[in-house]
Amino acid sequence: MPAPRNKTEDDITAEVLQRFAETPDPRLRQIMLGLVKHLHSFVKEVDLTEPEWFKAIEILTEAGRMCSDKRQEFILFSDTLGVSMVVDLISQRKPDGATESTVFGPFHRLGAPELPAGGNIATLDKAGTPTLVGGRVLDLDGKPIEGAVLDVWQAQSNGLYDSQDQSLRGLHMRGKFRTDAEGRYLVRTVRPVNYPIPSDGPVGRMLRATGRHPWRPAHIHFVVSAEGYEPVTTHIFDRTDEYLGSDAVFAVKDSLICDFVRHETSTDAAARLGIAPPFLTADFDFRLKPTIEQGATVLDAQRRLAALGAAG
Ligand code: BEZ
Ligand code: FE
Repeated sequence: MPAPRNKTEDDITAEVLQRFAETPDPRLRQIMLGLVKHLHSFVKEVDLTEPEWFKAIEILTEAGRMCSDKRQEFILFSDTLGVSMVVDLISQRKPDGATESTVFGPFHRLGAPELPAGGNIATLDKAGTPTLVGGRVLDLDGKPIEGAVLDVWQAQSNGLYDSQDQSLRGLHMRGKFRTDAEGRYLVRTVRPVNYPIPSDGPVGRMLRATGRHPWRPAHIHFVVSAEGYEPVTTHIFDRTDEYLGSDAVFAVKDSLICDFVRHETSTDAAARLGIAPPFLTADFDFRLKPTIEQGATVLDAQRRLAALGAAG
C-alpha cells in the first residue's frame, strides 16, 4: 500500500518504524525500532524547533571535530548524561562478589609501560604526596590469581592527565603491573586529586548552561584482566573527597571507596622503595569472575577509537 502523502508526525514515525521492521538481525532490529520510537517521542514531547534541531547538529559536529587519539568528546557526553553508568549497571545486574565496574572515561591511552611491583607511575610528579596502592587480585572463592594484569592510569597532582598537559610529551601516570604468585600487586604513585572534566568543548558548555559543576572525586583508574576471567574496568576513590556525592559522571559506587592512610614513619615497603615519610598507603583487593563468554571489552572499543583518532 503506498504511504499517505499528507503525513502527520505520527504517520512519519509509523513509516520509519515500518522501514526498519524487516531488519534481518533481531538485535539490530530491536535497537533501531527502540531508537526511532524514543527519539521521535522526545522530539514531539519537547516540541523541538528547527533552530534547536540545527543547534543539536552543530553540537554533534563540534563534538566529532574534537575527537582524536587523545580526546573523546562523545564518551564525555555519554558520561555526563549518565548513559555510561546506566549501561554499566545494566551489564552487571546480579551482584556476585566480583569487583564492581565503573566508567572507562576518555583518558585511557594504549601503550602504558610494564612496570615491576612497586614501580613508580608518577616519576615526573614532584608536588604530589607519595602513595603506595597495593592489594591482591582474587577469584570469587578468594584464591589468588597469579599473572593478572592491572592497567593503571591517573591524573597528575595538578589535576591534568598527561594528554591534557602541554608541558608533557609522552605518557605519564600510566603503567601495567602483573600480580605475583600470591596475587599481589603494588603501584607507586602520588595521592589522587579531584579534578574538573574537560570543559573547553560542547560538554563544558552543556554543564555551564545547566548549572552543573564539572568535578570528579579523586580516583585511580584500573582495568584488571587475567586469563580465564572477565576483565573489570573500574576506579578506586578516596573516601575523604568532597565530590563523592556529586561526581560529574555519576561513577561512584560504595564498594570502590577506599582509605588512603597517612604514615608519618616508615614501613618496610616504603623503606625498600626509598620513599621517605610522610606518605600514604591504600589497600584494595580486586575480585574477578570467571569468563562466561568473551564479549568485546571497553579496551577493544578504545583500540578502535584510538585508531580512528590517529587516522584523523
Ligand atoms: C576520568 O575519570 O578520567 C573521566 C571519566 C569520565 C569523564 C571524564 C573523565
Ligand atoms: Fe579519571
